[in-house]
Amino acid sequence: MEPQAGLRVLLCLALCGLGGARGVWSSGNQEWKKLIMVHHWPTTVCMEVGNSCSAPPDYWTIHGLWPDKSEECNRSWHFNPEEIKDLLPDMKMYWPDLLHSSRNRSLHFWRHEWEKHGTCAAQLDALNSQKKYFGKSLGLYKDLALNSILQKLGIKPSNNSYQISDIKDALVSVYGVAPKVQCLPPKSGEELQTLGQIELCFTKDLQLRNCTDPGEPAPRRWALWPARAAATSLGLEVCEDGPAFYPPPKRPTTGA
Ligand SMILES: *[C@@H]1O[C@H](CO)[C@@H](O)[C@H](O)[C@H]1NC(C)=O
Ligand SMILES: *[C@@H]1O[C@H](CO)[C@@H](O)[C@H](O)[C@H]1NC(C)=O
Ligand SMILES: *[C@@H]1O[C@H](CO)[C@@H](O)[C@H](O)[C@H]1NC(C)=O
Ligand SMILES: *[C@@H]1O[C@H](CO)[C@@H](O)[C@H](O)[C@H]1NC(C)=O
Repeated sequence: MEPQAGLRVLLCLALCGLGGARGVWSSGNQEWKKLIMVHHWPTTVCMEVGNSCSAPPDYWTIHGLWPDKSEECNRSWHFNPEEIKDLLPDMKMYWPDLLHSSRNRSLHFWRHEWEKHGTCAAQLDALNSQKKYFGKSLGLYKDLALNSILQKLGIKPSNNSYQISDIKDALVSVYGVAPKVQCLPPKSGEELQTLGQIELCFTKDLQLRNCTDPGEPAPRRWALWPARAAATSLGLEVCEDGPAFYPPPKRPTTGA
């Protein structure tokens, strides 16, 4: 597939140049090996909480950028919104708190992400301030361009289902690395799982890498991940092979 090969080259141009220097670090916290860029599908996040969101975005947004094996690496490094003032328009657009629409709620979400994940990611020179952590996360999200890539691959929200293996294969064909794909399992009475999160993983040099290592045991349940407590990662699990819904956003009907 020529266009996709071309895309991959473009992506490499965009991403391969991002490598940050590796920080020398010694801390009591477990050492982590990869960064996970977690995208979530707002409509599914809203389904998890009983559709309590109003007008979720119709694009994949950022859940977080997470080191794989560490959390809360520095409890005295508090979130300071002043430091990311310049990023606020992008933060609101691409990293919104989907569950709480009140104006300052997103600050709590970002604080949570910083304190739990950012303080660990900050072990890398490329991410060692709040401005760098949030700014680089937004940069990686934009470079990955998951939304337009899914569109180009013909994977669009639909009332019909997709095979999980088709979605994964398509993503591998573009990014050249294996993603991790998470679903909301079917509720009783439902037949299908629902696509919820797509993770793409990076090395400490911020190069794309497979999310799973060779020989790593097959799908773990989401609940076993270190980041289990977040209110925004409720019932997701690694998708089962087979069909899944990729639900269209529910738009409030306006009386146009
Ligand atoms: C934790 O963060 C504070 C505030 O930024 C900093 O002064 C301190 O050196 C950090 N501690 C470690 C172990 O990095
Ligand atoms: C929202 O946050 C801003 C800046 O931190 C603060 O000045 C304002 O009082 C907050 N508003 C509410 C309703 O909490
Ligand atoms: C999907 O189903 C909903 C509800 O049945 C309907 O309103 C919508 O138009 C359908 N969308 C497509 C793309 O078929
Ligand atoms: C990464 O994943 C792809 C697709 O699953 C696989 O073909 C490749 O061998 C993996 N690479 C490494 C370094 O594990």
